Amino acid sequence: MQNNIFSGLFVGQNFVTIKEVDSTNNFLKQLASNSKPVIEGTVIMAENQTAGRGQQQNGWHAEPGKNLTFSLLLKPSFLPVTQQFDLVRAVSLGVFDALHPLLGDGLKIKWPNDIYYGNRKIGGMLIENMIQGGQIKNAIVGIGLNINQQTFPDYLPNATSVKQILQQDYDLKTLLSDICRHIEAYYLNLKAGKVLFVRETYLTRLYWLNEQKEYKSKDGPFAGTIKSVKDNGILVVENNNNEELEFSLKEIEFVN
Ligand code: BTN
Repeated sequence: MQNNIFSGLFVGQNFVTIKEVDSTNNFLKQLASNSKPVIEGTVIMAENQTAGRGQQQNGWHAEPGKNLTFSLLLKPSFLPVTQQFDLVRAVSLGVFDALHPLLGDGLKIKWPNDIYYGNRKIGGMLIENMIQGGQIKNAIVGIGLNINQQTFPDYLPNATSVKQILQQDYDLKTLLSDICRHIEAYYLNLKAGKVLFVRETYLTRLYWLNEQKEYKSKDGPFAGTIKSVKDNGILVVENNNNEELEFSLKEIEFVN
């Protein structure tokens, strides 16, 4: 189905909604690997995913018709593979900026790319890069956001939704178009070389930045303070001995 609810230059200009699919990331990945080129900015949105995928081989749960589950195709060939994390920053910030007018300052980005309100997760993203000749040929940006869902299964005690927070339903396509517009703006900043702006803004939106909190690493629990995120996405946490420890994904757990 074609539609023109999108006000940006290219993100969402080619927009497809599907009633049911295993995973919008799988669908778009397959589409992008076919011989016919898929234009940058294509958005595939599903009412229902039967096998939605999350970070770290987890599934992604979303009640059909109530949430945003979509994937977007970007072609950041201008971005060196070593700077892949800048894309994570740009997309996280785009989602953040679209939700911030609704949710206000309780909204944060939990490193690396979860969207949090207070201590609860509203959504996240799964970005899958297809690398060719040392460049990111295609980035499949899959985003899942809990919008109008009122309850969550017991195995997701940490999940929340816009509806749970504001007691109000929101129009999914309006939100989607806002998100796409904001992602496009950050993406174009990256493309224009304003990488420092994107990095600095990401840092200011970070959950638990400069707050002393509890964490767990392979060496056990420790108290520490998030100080920064390195260019390549590594998290820097200072412990109580004033040592700066560095973590990549899966190496650190935030303890609430
Ligand atoms: C996470 O674990 O936080 C990432 C969740 C990403 C879910 C989205 S929903 C749309 C897209 N399709 C998928 O299968 N996963 C992503």
